[in-house]
Amino acid sequence: MSSTYGGDAPLSYNKYLKVQELIRLQETLSDPESHDELLFIVIHQTYELWFKQILHELDACIGWMNEGRLFRANHSLRGVNSIERILVTQIHILESMAPIGFLEFRDKLNPASGFQSMQFRELEFSSGAKDEKILESFREDEFAYTRLKARFDSPSLADAFWALVGRSGLAVGSYQERMDSTVEMLAKPEAYAELYNMQDLLIEHDELIIAWRYNHIQMVERMLGMKRGTGGSEGVGYLTTTLKKKFFPELWEARTHLTVEDIG
Ligand code: HEM
Repeated sequence: MSSTYGGDAPLSYNKYLKVQELIRLQETLSDPESHDELLFIVIHQTYELWFKQILHELDACIGWMNEGRLFRANHSLRGVNSIERILVTQIHILESMAPIGFLEFRDKLNPASGFQSMQFRELEFSSGAKDEKILESFREDEFAYTRLKARFDSPSLADAFWALVGRSGLAVGSYQERMDSTVEMLAKPEAYAELYNMQDLLIEHDELIIAWRYNHIQMVERMLGMKRGTGGSEGVGYLTTTLKKKFFPELWEARTHLTVEDIG
């Protein structure tokens, strides 16, 4: 793809950000072009750019956690959560598309689906929700498979967090121990200040992804009712089962067991 930004002209906004290339990347499939297809492509590409930024932060965060740099890691997690708050609400833009406008081009997308979003799966795997079946579903896509396999085999954000909690002297060997250690942190926020802040940011990351899933499901039902997905799933029925996914189940369950007696 060749582009000109004024020959040897000094750096400009358009040249730095490759705007010519960027606005050529929205290739509609409908013919004659269906009006809403551009919105559909733009919103998905926007999500993918934010996923890229989130993965960049998560990778750095895991590195900082391994180095024991809690303040720096928490700063990045705050950045991740800020982006995710936008992702949760951004899905509503699609609801400005009339269901009939979507049906005009939906058949052209078959069998492509958000189910195959490599970067969303990377986000899940690197946060702590690894799924071998999902990894295998990318077998034919070498580029995606290689990236996902690397994340599948590497320690996740959850692994890095529990290792950090372990190094602080709390027990993390089993699920029960991780939960008990969380109760201890929740009971004594000031004694575990940075770790306490970290578990708060991590549970928020989990919560925001669940909120995204929920808003996506509502939008899908508003658009499609109970029709099957282009990816071949039952659609809303399948998506509802994903609401149970959690990156840090111990953090959630510890809240059930926390009592004032734990203050000690
Ligand atoms: C009109 C718009 C949309 C419709 C009708 C729709 C519909 C669906 C359906 C039915 C599924 C289930 C899999 C399947 O059988 O295809 C799905 C999965 C998914 N979609 Fe969407 N979607 C839309 C927009 C988006 C957007 C904007 C994103 C942003 C990235 C997105 C991301 C995903 C992801 C990540 C999954 C996999 C969820 C999981 O398995 O946990 N979708 N979508």
